[in-house]
Amino acid sequence: MNMKKPYVICHMMSTVDGRIISGNWGSQQLIDTYAGFFEKYHETFESQAWMCGRVTMERDFSGGIQPQLITPEQPIAREPFIGNKDAASFAVAIDAHGKLGWEKNETGGDHIIEVLTEQVSDEYLQYLQQKGISYIFAGRSDIDFKSAISQLSDLFPIQTLMLEGGGHVNGSMLNEGLIDELSLLLLPVADGTPRSPTTFEVSEYLTKKPATQLYLKEVKQLENDVIWLKYKFEHN
Ligand SMILES: NC(=O)c1ccc[n+]([C@@H]2O[C@H](COP(=O)([O-])OP(=O)(O)OC[C@H]3O[C@@H](n4cnc5c(N)ncnc54)[C@H](OP(=O)(O)O)[C@@H]3O)[C@@H](O)[C@H]2O)c1
Repeated sequence: MNMKKPYVICHMMSTVDGRIISGNWGSQQLIDTYAGFFEKYHETFESQAWMCGRVTMERDFSGGIQPQLITPEQPIAREPFIGNKDAASFAVAIDAHGKLGWEKNETGGDHIIEVLTEQVSDEYLQYLQQKGISYIFAGRSDIDFKSAISQLSDLFPIQTLMLEGGGHVNGSMLNEGLIDELSLLLLPVADGTPRSPTTFEVSEYLTKKPATQLYLKEVKQLENDVIWLKYKFEHN
């Protein structure tokens, strides 16, 4: 039986050698130009949510602030918590160990959903509840991405999800066969930095499945020698 899940579009920008860390790409002006492309072409998709890994959230969105842990009066059940029932757009953080701190329960106007594992402390859950940040549990100690994705569509009004890095979260989603489409901004940069993450990184502790064949849907040449590639994961 097919599980219920949102349509997942992985939207990324990479160098010609697949690397994704913009800090290695030279001038700040060029980096800002590429970031502008990333946002502009993100907006061409109609989606209700975007999802990133803990590292990306910390570096690019949460400002790296530390959570203020709070001791609850009673143990907290490992059940989903909805922090804002009226939210219509969402930022989803893959945060297995409950490390992220947030100023408030939204980032850039999108309500935050933390995807946790059951090992996260009650103190962290109490912190999220007090902030009004939603959370779900997917897996005991490792993230079960299938469960996460299906809960996102069961508990929230999410039909289309933009998967936006980094490489490790993308790799886990790829390995589980959960991606429907790839939107790749191919930048005119040959990076070459050793051990720098690429668009899809399957962590060593996961059982790597065979490589995935993609089907070209669209190619566009943009300004600044950037190429926009769109691929489908299923032939139709
Ligand atoms: N070029 C682009 O389009 C683009 C887009 C997004 C991000 N980025 C860049 O990518 C970099 C971060 O990439 P990254 O690959 O190092 O980190 P990431 O994918 O953002 O985050 C990885 C983290 O997610 C958590 N996680 C838990 N379970 C996981 C699982 N099964 N699979 C994968 N992750 C799991 C882990 O957090 P814990 O360590 O807490 O367990 C892991 O360290 C940043 O520098 C960011 O700026 C580039």
